[in-house]
Amino acid sequence: MRILFLTHAFNSLTQRLHVELRSLGHQVSVEFDINDAVAQEAVERYQPDLVIAPFLKRAIPESIWRRYVCLVVHPGIRGDRGPSSLDWAVLKGETRWGVTVLQANAEMDAGDIWASVEFEMREASKGSLYRNEVTEAAVEAMRLAVDRFAAGDFRPQPLDQSDPDIQGEWRPLAKQTDRVIDWQRDSSELILSKIRSGDGVPGVKDTLFGRECFLYDARLEINLTGNPGELIARCGPAICRATVDGAVWIGHLKEQASEHPFKLPATQLLASETEHLHEIEADEASGYREIWYEEAEGVGLLHFPFYNGAMSSEQCEALLQAYRQAKQRETKVILLMGGPDYWSNGMHLNRIEAASSAADESWRNINAIDDLAREIIETESHLTIAALQGNAGAGGVFLARAADEVWARRGVILNPHYKDMGNLYGSEYWTYLLPRYAGQENAERIVESRLPMGVDEAKALSLIDQVIDGPSAAFVPQVRQLATAMIRTPAFNERLHYKNARRQADESVKPLARYREEELEQMKHNFYGFDPSYHVARYNFVYKVPKSRTPLTLANHRRTVPLRRVS
Ligand code: COA
Repeated sequence: MRILFLTHAFNSLTQRLHVELRSLGHQVSVEFDINDAVAQEAVERYQPDLVIAPFLKRAIPESIWRRYVCLVVHPGIRGDRGPSSLDWAVLKGETRWGVTVLQANAEMDAGDIWASVEFEMREASKGSLYRNEVTEAAVEAMRLAVDRFAAGDFRPQPLDQSDPDIQGEWRPLAKQTDRVIDWQRDSSELILSKIRSGDGVPGVKDTLFGRECFLYDARLEINLTGNPGELIARCGPAICRATVDGAVWIGHLKEQASEHPFKLPATQLLASETEHLHEIEADEASGYREIWYEEAEGVGLLHFPFYNGAMSSEQCEALLQAYRQAKQRETKVILLMGGPDYWSNGMHLNRIEAASSAADESWRNINAIDDLAREIIETESHLTIAALQGNAGAGGVFLARAADEVWARRGVILNPHYKDMGNLYGSEYWTYLLPRYAGQENAERIVESRLPMGVDEAKALSLIDQVIDGPSAAFVPQVRQLATAMIRTPAFNERLHYKNARRQADESVKPLARYREEELEQMKHNFYGFDPSYHVARYNFVYKVPKSRTPLTLANHRRTVPLRRVS
């Protein structure tokens, strides 16, 4: 089928549906929902069999839904309606939630239901639920809906709010007043649910040291206590604030009125105000851990769940240090675990944007990631495995490929390209790693196509080596067991020997240092050259400037199909 995505942005859910529908043999073209005229032009050009709206903030124009079946992916259970479905589900502590695919009509979210899939809620931020449970349910619901549409005889179920099976209802936009925190009254649990309901957007408005800030990235603290509302400690990027029954950590803040009105680590944004706070060392029970190591049966697991997968210079340096320590251990395999939401999205673009010299900070950051990548590539003592539970983008993909093996959970999406960031050339030894694994021809195609990639395609291109099936919750024990089993195989030592021999052979053909030099030469042009594209693209990304047109890499109908006017 010819499917047109009409979407506010090419976000993670849209990317995943794009990958899934293409893998089922459908042709998918994308148009960003900029205004009615642009959307209208897109359907005229593409003449789709079906329009899908994976992530929409406005109603679909009547001129479109009257002519085409338009399926809207709504992140709510049957009958749920309104613009803040998931926010309310988190705020109200729902234990089950769902995704419903409904047909667009004149009334928002009230169209006939084509499919609906439910899931168990988890104590996590809205963004994390969206990237995991909602995305999985949306894939299932969308497959059902598309199959039903293709069958031709399916009759979608009209929404009947009086039906006892329909448990959802209309809920308005969640406002700051719905989430406001009363530090003198609210329990830690309630505060966590308020912050999580608005994380990634819009955050919960609060006041810290007289500054109005939005709060994100909250975690429970179980040991520390203090007077409710008092700031009592700091740990890495996070600050700890006492509640009536304990305390919570807040990792990231945004101050709209500041020079840098975007998310930053709390201790960076409030550097002088939080300087005096007691700095605590994080451990399993207490504090805010960004990097930690555990080991079992010859396998070391290095976790680094950096917020949004962004890796600043300091975070790369700390991870490099932790990695070097892991290498000193008497283990055989090191699993590089990333985090549950993201494995890595490369350089920390917000930190770079906030630096006094963005060019210098970009240079520092890319070198810090490269140092880490080199350490992984040159590891002789261990077999290294990047275990991707969450997505990876840009430099994060190539950092993963620096390991000897890449294992990825089914459902993970990779974006193995840099060019969308203002034609950024990229480093992380990608010019060595990508052709080495995918072959020269594929390497060129991958970086030029700028498309998200699912695990099956990534495996066919040797960007990953193994797909891990099963639920997210089972991922960590599963990869640990697989790694343990690998050590026990007779071929393990041979494998280690082979990888070291292969590395030496590669080094003699072209030293790793040369790849880096050549990549960084190009990056210098991106950072310090005449063409400001990277700085402009980074600014737009960090400030979330809406796109004014759909990239031609996504809008197939704008590239190849001649304009055919609908009479
Ligand atoms: N630095 C800082 N923040 C980043 C980031 C990075 N490298 N990558 C993602 N984020 C943030 C986004 O700003 C967004 O923030 P929010 O919580 O305020 O909404 C959040 O992470 C999720 O990102 P989003 O773009 O909405 O996720 P996605 O799953 O739709 O898209 C990517 C994933 C990787 C395609 C996209 O995030 C991206 O292009 N990131 C930049 C990659 C890059 O160019 N890195 C630098 C070169 S190495």
